[in-house]
Amino acid sequence: MKNNFLIKQYISDKKMSIRHNYLSEQFNNPKEIFKSINKIVKFNDFTLGRYVDLFEKEFCKYQKVKYAVGVGSGTDAIFLSLKALGIKDGDEIITPTYSFYATAGAIAAAGAKPVFVDVKDDLNIDENKIEKRITKKTKAIVPVHWSGRICNMKKILRISKKYNLHVVEDACHAILAHDDKKKYAGNFGITGCFSMHPLKNLNVWGDGGIIATNNKKIYEKLKLMRNHGLISRDNCKIYGYNSRLDTIQAAVALKMIKQINFITSSRIKNANYLNAKLKSIKQIKLIKEQKKYKSVYHLYQFYCEKRNQLNNFLRSNKIDSKIHYPKPLHLHDAAKKFKYNKGQFKNAEKLSKKVISIPVHEFVSKKQLDLIINKIQKFYN
Ligand SMILES: Cc1ncc(COP(=O)(O)O)c(C=O)c1O
Repeated sequence: MKNNFLIKQYISDKKMSIRHNYLSEQFNNPKEIFKSINKIVKFNDFTLGRYVDLFEKEFCKYQKVKYAVGVGSGTDAIFLSLKALGIKDGDEIITPTYSFYATAGAIAAAGAKPVFVDVKDDLNIDENKIEKRITKKTKAIVPVHWSGRICNMKKILRISKKYNLHVVEDACHAILAHDDKKKYAGNFGITGCFSMHPLKNLNVWGDGGIIATNNKKIYEKLKLMRNHGLISRDNCKIYGYNSRLDTIQAAVALKMIKQINFITSSRIKNANYLNAKLKSIKQIKLIKEQKKYKSVYHLYQFYCEKRNQLNNFLRSNKIDSKIHYPKPLHLHDAAKKFKYNKGQFKNAEKLSKKVISIPVHEFVSKKQLDLIINKIQKFYN
């Protein structure tokens, strides 16, 4: 890539009238955030600092967790968790083959082999296929709560106990998602990893991530590891990394977390509306939610016939539909050295050809949802 941004995508996304990107609306009055940034400048509080503390404390309250560590990104949250658990070269980590590249990337960066498992029709790891993939080298499972839909953590935890494996949750899509016992995504494993990329449900003005844990030892290790292993300015306890949550991003996150209940409930309301209207279209298959589980719809996705044609049709009608993602992880060049084959994870391969995402965020109006529904009906008629 010649430039640091995708020019073609910028241009085509700008033409959309119902957008996937809602940041202009969300930040149309950033006065309060600028006030916080002024304070940061005044106190020269540029690395870690007050806002990182304040945000970590606030996050713990929302997440109902004892400890939180702000880090550079969701990817770093996974990477640092694995490193804090002692993952090293040659270890194997079990993870779904359907996710964003960062899940496997963080595992590989930690030195381990991502051992892929197929997904179920809800795009989450198939818990019934995990045990077959465990070897003597397996050290951890990294389930992904895809699109904010919680995995079958009961079964995954049972397996992890049986084989003495760590569970590091990729909860990057899943803030406030919970199971039937109101246990939040990110609170099942030894750590839960969250991304605050600008288009995540909890978002900042650049990159940011946060790790949730109830384990004091891991918490303390993560605090060291994100900041060069320093216990004080002149004492380095272990060699670590530089992956601090940026102070300015922490100030943004502190403001945004106060809106997370509204953001979540708006997405759920919009998704329920879409589900009710789209279910009668016979060329569409909705993704089934588990009863009593609360999914937070980081994405609104369904499966459909003539997926690429529908995507083109919606986009030509200025509706910003997207494909997340057209190819599972095991089929990418990056995974070549791990020697996976086409056809090895059949469900993920099949679903990635049928899945489509349409805007579901808090700024999509009912009128716009109706327009999307109307265009989809028109396409299939
Ligand atoms: C499922 C999943 N895991 C991990 C990440 C990585 O997060 P970040 O972009 O903050 O590094 C993302 C980001 O999009 C993601 O979607």
